Amino acid sequence: MEKRVWIEKIVNRGMGLGYDQEAKIVFVPYTAVGDEVIVEITKSKKRYDIGQIKKFIKKSEERIEPNCSFFTKCGGCHFLHIPYEKELEYKKLIVENIIKREVNNVIPSIEFNYRNKATFHADYRSSRLKLGFYMASSNRVINIDKCPLLINTINYTKNIIESLNIPHLDRVVIRTSHDGKKLLVNLIGEKKHKDYIKKIIKTQYNIIFDHIIRNYASEKGVSEDKYMEFYNDFNLVFYFNSKPIDEKKSTIKTEFLNKKFFLTSNDFFQTNYYIGEKMFSFIYNFVKDNIEYKKLLIDGYSGSLTIGIILSELFEEVIGIEQNPSNIFLAEKNIKENNINNAKIIQKDFRDYIKQLSFKQSKGNILVLDPPREGVGKDIKYLDRYPLDYIIYISCDPMTSYRDINYLQNYKIEKVLIFDMFPRTFHIEVLYILKRII
Ligand SMILES: C[S@@+](CC[C@H](N)C(=O)[O-])C[C@H]1O[C@@H](n2cnc3c(N)ncnc32)[C@H](O)[C@@H]1O
Repeated sequence: MEKRVWIEKIVNRGMGLGYDQEAKIVFVPYTAVGDEVIVEITKSKKRYDIGQIKKFIKKSEERIEPNCSFFTKCGGCHFLHIPYEKELEYKKLIVENIIKREVNNVIPSIEFNYRNKATFHADYRSSRLKLGFYMASSNRVINIDKCPLLINTINYTKNIIESLNIPHLDRVVIRTSHDGKKLLVNLIGEKKHKDYIKKIIKTQYNIIFDHIIRNYASEKGVSEDKYMEFYNDFNLVFYFNSKPIDEKKSTIKTEFLNKKFFLTSNDFFQTNYYIGEKMFSFIYNFVKDNIEYKKLLIDGYSGSLTIGIILSELFEEVIGIEQNPSNIFLAEKNIKENNINNAKIIQKDFRDYIKQLSFKQSKGNILVLDPPREGVGKDIKYLDRYPLDYIIYISCDPMTSYRDINYLQNYKIEKVLIFDMFPRTFHIEVLYILKRII
C-alpha cells in the first residue's frame, strides 16, 4: 500500500514522523522535516504505520547531498542527508521530548573519521573476499570501499585484507588507537582453519603493514624525510578468534587524556576518542570545581577503569565495579601502567554490588555510572539508601536512563548534556548530573 506523507519532526531512532491524508501517524526513515513523500507502507498498526520512501513530491530545504554512496543501503548512518548542525538540533529535541526538561548543552564531535572500531562481515559470493556491513534491517552484506565514519587506517586495513583474498573468514574486527597508528585486527573464522590463516598472516604481514602506512602517510602528507619516524610509530597486531596470533604482540595501547590504556579486540572502550575525551574532561572539571568533598569515587560499569583512572588524582580512593573478567584484567594492567596507587577494581554485577554497601564517611562519596544500553533497572533504587553526594549517569539510551532516574527518590537532575558520541547516526549519548536532595 502507498500513502502520501508530510514529515513534521524527527523522533527517536532517527525516524521522520509525518501524517497521511487521514492524519494517521507514519514513521519514515531517512526523511527530513518538510519532506512530502509517497511511501510504501511496510508495517501497519492501529495507531501508526511505518513506511519507506518511494518517491518525493517535495524535498525538504534541509536536505544536503550525502557524502557516501551507500547511505540508506548500509544500516550504519541515519542522518547523512541533513547538515550536522540539524542532526544535533534534532537529537536535543528528541532527548527533551523524552526527559521533559531542557538539555543544558550539546557538545558536538568531529563529524567524520571518528569511529575507532568496526566489525566487517565476510562475503565470498563473488568467489573473492568482500568485507562490508550489514544492509539496513538485514543480514545481507554490503561491500563498502571506504566508510566515512571510520578512522581511515581501519579502512586501509580492511582493504588490504580484502585484496589478499584471505579465505575462510566470517568477520573481521579492527580497532585502532587515538592516532590511528596502533591497530588490532581480529580475524574470526572456523577453528579448523586457524593454522592456515596464521600462516597467511605471517607471510603477508609486511605487505599489510606497508600498505596501511603508505596510505596513511599519503593522507597526512608525510614528507619523505619524516617517513621513517612515522613508520616506526606503527604497531599492527593480529588475533585469530580473539587470541593473539603472535604471543609477543598481544595488545595495543592508546593515549586518552594523557593516560595510557590497553586495548584488546572485544572489550569495551569508548568508540569516539574525540568526544570521549570531551566527556571525561567535563566530568573531571565538574568534580574538581563543583564538589567540595572528594573522598571516594565509585566507577560503576567501569570497563577497563577509564573514568576511575582519569579521575583518580581528585580522590582518596577509587573503586571500579565491572562484570567482564577481561575488562578486569585490562583495568589491572591500566592501573599499573599509569602508576595509580589509590584505585582497585572489583569483579561483580553492579546490581548485586549496590544491594549492601557501607561507607567510611557520610560526605565526599561520588558515583559515576556508565551501564550498557539496557541501563540498570529497578535495582537502582538501592542507591537511595546511600550517602552519595552526586551520581553522574552516562547513557547511550535516553529512554532507559530516564526510566532509571525516575526510580530514584533522593536525587534530582541538576544538569543534562548530550555528548555526540555517534555523529551521523541516530545513537544519542546523554550525561546526567544528579544531586542528592535528602
Ligand atoms: C558502556 S561500558 C562503560 C565502560 C567505561 N565506563 C569506559 O568508559 O570504558 C559498560 C560496561 O559495563 C559492563 N557491564 C555490563 N553489565 C554489567 C553489570 N551487570 N555489572 C557490572 N558491569 C557490567 C560491560 O562489560 C562494559 O564494560
